[in-house]
Amino acid sequence: MIRKWLPKCCLLLVAVATSLGTAHALDRQPASAYHARRVALADKTQGGVAVLFAATQPLVDFMPYRQDEDFYYLTGWNEPGAALLVQAAQAASGQFPARPYREVLFLPTRDLRMEKYTGEKMDAATPDVAKKTGVDEVLPMTELPSVLNKLLGSDYRLRRNLWSQLDLPQSTALATWTASTLGMDSPPAFSDVRSLTMGLRTVKDAGEIELLRKAADASMKAQLAAMKAIKPGVNERAIDGLILYKLLENGCERPSYSPIVGSGLYSTVLHYSEDSHDMQAGDVVVIDAAGEYSMYASDITRTMPINGHFTARQKEIYDIVLGAQRAAAQAFVAGKFLLGDTLHRGPASAPSLDRVAYDYINTHGKDLHGQPLGQYFLHGLGHSVGIDVHDPMDYTKPLDKGMVFTIEPGIYIPEEKIGVRIEDVFYVDQNGKLVDLIANLPHETKDVEAAMQR
Ligand code: GLY
Ligand code: MN
Ligand code: MN
Repeated sequence: MIRKWLPKCCLLLVAVATSLGTAHALDRQPASAYHARRVALADKTQGGVAVLFAATQPLVDFMPYRQDEDFYYLTGWNEPGAALLVQAAQAASGQFPARPYREVLFLPTRDLRMEKYTGEKMDAATPDVAKKTGVDEVLPMTELPSVLNKLLGSDYRLRRNLWSQLDLPQSTALATWTASTLGMDSPPAFSDVRSLTMGLRTVKDAGEIELLRKAADASMKAQLAAMKAIKPGVNERAIDGLILYKLLENGCERPSYSPIVGSGLYSTVLHYSEDSHDMQAGDVVVIDAAGEYSMYASDITRTMPINGHFTARQKEIYDIVLGAQRAAAQAFVAGKFLLGDTLHRGPASAPSLDRVAYDYINTHGKDLHGQPLGQYFLHGLGHSVGIDVHDPMDYTKPLDKGMVFTIEPGIYIPEEKIGVRIEDVFYVDQNGKLVDLIANLPHETKDVEAAMQR
């Protein structure tokens, strides 16, 4: 389901720096993994230079800090205010000298007063800073305009081969200031570095799969605890609280989106996150909730009967949704299927899993008026998952090895107060096999009912 993460819960980050050298409490991949990504990014620029900025400290006190996704992907660095420069190797040609591959992490000046609030930070003068950060070269942030000035001054072609995050004000400021330092009458035009990192981030490495698996494991524990706590009279928000507790207890730093606990009619409201109603016997509840482990998200939905037993009609709808999820998973062939666009209807350039699920739903069961159920499948079948719960991906390309995505069909019939969604995260292994990271959480109605027994 397409839904943006909302920072509803002002949870303090676990990643609190306690001393120099332990800059974060997240599981970091080996330095070589981040280095390999920077080299891959440099290759994509074809002789260019990329400059990425870290997310800044939130303005509002006590709001949790979350690093810019691309910056984190390339560095594993979880502190605000830094910048990364990646320069591709370039052979000498004519008047232009050769350039070697170069990577520089720019760290901001330490603010000793703020460190009373935030804890100690590293800067470029910290002993062994390159080893500690895993980046070849570390310089003070004040050097960034100067380094860029020298690069653009020595090779004017670079003015057309610069990449940055166009959505951040720092990139505009840097372009403008660089133009001033070079006496240019207009700023160099940065291209969107996120268009390059998207291709890299789509294919996960083994270390990322491990983090996604940890996010999935913690999230399954939270979902299971929720299943056991559901009964008539319990408020949806109490389930919210339990889920958050279980996620954090099991190593997550926060939920990967604002949890949805929607019972009765609210099971049919796709973006319901008010989570304020008392649950009623005879209704179902949709729980779409999962956590983020060391910056990697999970995304899980289960649907449960509030009194512990599905009615015949609820079971019928549930089994159709489960059948659609299984039909899509069984149809999957690596390199052949699109996940699907936002909705199932358009002409597809290749077979899509979304179409498989839609066709299944539309040819099984009927509504109260004898009409097919496809009209009640209101959202796309899934999305890529990674550092973002909706990770960037080119949806016009087939799913292939190393990709991680949800399969989450749903049927929502307000007239019957029945909403059912079942959502698992899958990845495509190196043999092209689809692996369900949520396989250990109940799927069948009988197993959901059994798990609800305390
Ligand atoms: N929980 C967000 C989604 O399913 O897309
Ligand atoms: Mn989802
Ligand atoms: Mn979800």
